[in-house]
Amino acid sequence: MIIAVVNQKGGVGKTTIAFNLAVEMNADLCVDLDAMRLLTRLNMLREGRGYAPLKIAAETTKEEIAALALKYSGDQKLCVIDTAGVDSDISRFALGVSNIAIAPCDISMLDIIGTREFLKAAASMQGKSKREVVIRGVFSRVSPQTKKIQSAAASLEKGGLKMFKTAIRQRGALRGATDEGKAAAEFPAAWQSAAEFELLASEIKETLNAENNA
Ligand SMILES: Nc1ncnc2c1ncn2[C@@H]1O[C@H](COP(=O)(O)OP(=O)(O)OP(=O)(O)O)[C@@H](O)[C@H]1O
Ligand SMILES: [Mg+2]
Repeated sequence: MIIAVVNQKGGVGKTTIAFNLAVEMNADLCVDLDAMRLLTRLNMLREGRGYAPLKIAAETTKEEIAALALKYSGDQKLCVIDTAGVDSDISRFALGVSNIAIAPCDISMLDIIGTREFLKAAASMQGKSKREVVIRGVFSRVSPQTKKIQSAAASLEKGGLKMFKTAIRQRGALRGATDEGKAAAEFPAAWQSAAEFELLASEIKETLNAENNA
């Protein structure tokens, strides 16, 4: 299975989600398509602190990603791809080869508009590729107190983006975990985030099972 974490809107939590899902779901491989290589840096920090590092592929060209896609698109192995918060051919390509693309988004108006614009571009790209990619949104960095998730979800769904029920909330403890190179599940204070990532991982699997049986 290939999970691509995508959104041209920057700073929405893509790398944080890719990293935590990779640890939570025991990914066999990660791909870091951001020129800033922040997932790779996070992994180096992780390794420096004595934690088992994620395996991050050196492959970053379309041909290389296509070859990885052949290897990882079945159900046996998992590859998590982190993309950059800019539009690029390679990010679109990664979205196109994924089994599921996950677009993190906050409930702010700018995030919602940015994500809807991104989705339009992704849809036009998908039209050209032969296979349909499952795309789902996930609320990310949202205040634990907010009551606005439902209206934000309605607005995104109107734009064609179905949202996962699980939201990844803005939490200081998750930032604390990331600062140490750890996933939420490895940092006791981040137990609430760990529970959110566990639920998100289950929703991803359920969604793919439902799509495969449809
Ligand atoms: N749920 C969260 N709670 C607290 N802090 C978070 C959360 N998610 C992300 N952050 C912090 O927000 C910042 C942006 O997150 P991140 O780098 O994961 O976003 P991104 O979408 O990958 O950004 P870019 O588009 O630049 O690649 C980081 O400082 C990260 O530690
Ligand atoms: Mg990033």
